[in-house]
Amino acid sequence: TVLILDFGSQYSHLITRRLRELNVYAEMLPCTQKIPELDWLPKGIIFSGGPYSVYADGSPHVDPSIFELGIPILGICYGLQEIAWHNGRGVSGGDKREYGHADLHVIRHENNPGIDRLFSGMTGQIQVWMSHGDMLSGLPPNFVTIASTTNSPFAAIAHESKPLFGIQFHPEVTHSPRGAEIIKHFAVDICKCKQDWTMEKFINKEIERIRNVVGETGKVIGAISGGVDSTVAAKLMHHAIGDRFHGILVDNGCLRLNEAKKCHEMLTKNLGVNLEVVDASEEFLSKLKGVTDPEKKRKVIGNTFINVFERKALEITEESGIHIDFLLQGTLYPDNVGGLLKDMKLKLIEPLRELFKDEVRALGTLLGIKEELVWRHPFPGPGIAIRVLGEVTAEQVDIARRADNIFIEEIRNAGIYREISQAFAALLPVRAVGVMGDQRTYEQVIALRAVTTVDFMTADWYDFDGKFLRKVSSRIINEVKGVNRVVYDVSTKPPATVEWE
Ligand code: XMP
Repeated sequence: TVLILDFGSQYSHLITRRLRELNVYAEMLPCTQKIPELDWLPKGIIFSGGPYSVYADGSPHVDPSIFELGIPILGICYGLQEIAWHNGRGVSGGDKREYGHADLHVIRHENNPGIDRLFSGMTGQIQVWMSHGDMLSGLPPNFVTIASTTNSPFAAIAHESKPLFGIQFHPEVTHSPRGAEIIKHFAVDICKCKQDWTMEKFINKEIERIRNVVGETGKVIGAISGGVDSTVAAKLMHHAIGDRFHGILVDNGCLRLNEAKKCHEMLTKNLGVNLEVVDASEEFLSKLKGVTDPEKKRKVIGNTFINVFERKALEITEESGIHIDFLLQGTLYPDNVGGLLKDMKLKLIEPLRELFKDEVRALGTLLGIKEELVWRHPFPGPGIAIRVLGEVTAEQVDIARRADNIFIEEIRNAGIYREISQAFAALLPVRAVGVMGDQRTYEQVIALRAVTTVDFMTADWYDFDGKFLRKVSSRIINEVKGVNRVVYDVSTKPPATVEWE
């Protein structure tokens, strides 16, 4: 096991992810975790990056005794500063912030090959991704430089005799093309970790964990959205505790076309999951009346969701005399669910909390979930409410979902659904002039969005051919009343997000 000590970088989870890809088991804990307090010993430790400066008051630090354990340590970005800070040498504020690609020049040490292991097989320049303010102003005692860039003369350092390595760049992001190799060199060659972790092991471990947490008689309730995540989570739960899991699909009035019905069929008939649909459309839409701020929409939907859900949980308890103790949530690592469900009195179970989308798909396939569902594009919790820009009404949602349905249908017909990571139609709150027959129209605009991405942290727009867009546009304008214009969103993330709100 590799232990990742998290200093709060936005990339921290990508480190566990890269290790899992190597079939190396990793656990991430807060940076203040003291190793002797664990009931296991890591074979290697990685300090993540973080948004702080090691010299600032109150910035986080590891327990200094960690350097006495003899366990190999790799510090990334802030982690490098942390190693230097504890080992006696200054860090400069760095008058040049560095963000983006840099060419890393690997420096070889024929007389001390041990320290070259991090970059073994790499010579000359390699491309890496930098994102930092602080940098090293000099080498800590007994350290040597193992790589440099034009801006960072000490971009990578190693201790002369102890297994301590620090790198300024981020090997965990895909923008560092050889980063995964560097992580492998650390975990496998330096720490001697076994590469025997598999998704089957994850399933068994998670089922065991769920059974331990829930106990012999505990009952779990869970929200099902019809997406990959909640379906996989529900199926996992079904494997662990069978019918002691109660799935609830809340129709918030902002779901895709005919979604509740389709979901119900899929989950109960195909997967055998205990599921009930609650139609709360009116309640949601009435709470959303007059709300235009996207974050407020999320809050309203989140709170209403909690109310509906708690009511339903109580109802199940009262009707059947069954006491419900736990709530299943299919949240993944990159999910952006705000305060959703935090206030509920039920205890949370999140079996997918460390996984990324494609890992959940692999998990779903292993659990026997249909290909069509496993590869379904993700859909945000607040649903079409954040794809109707401005005020959400039943009529506006209806326009957006009809357009969306045509778009997705055509994407499936064209056989490109799986090439695209996520696609949807957003309804803009502006009216544009058009002409239909002899009449001038003054109707709304549909914006189509389709992106490709690996992890949803960055995304590119999908390059449809013109004929395809022509067909979709013409179908939407002809079939969806209230729309006279269709535009295609050609923005990358960053700086744009995937969603429009
Ligand atoms: P953004 O728009 O942040 O989207 O680039 C990245 C991914 O997150 C989804 N998303 C959400 N999912 N609740 C969710 O459950 C939300 O409020 C939310 N906002 C964005 C989005 O659909 C995309 O897959």
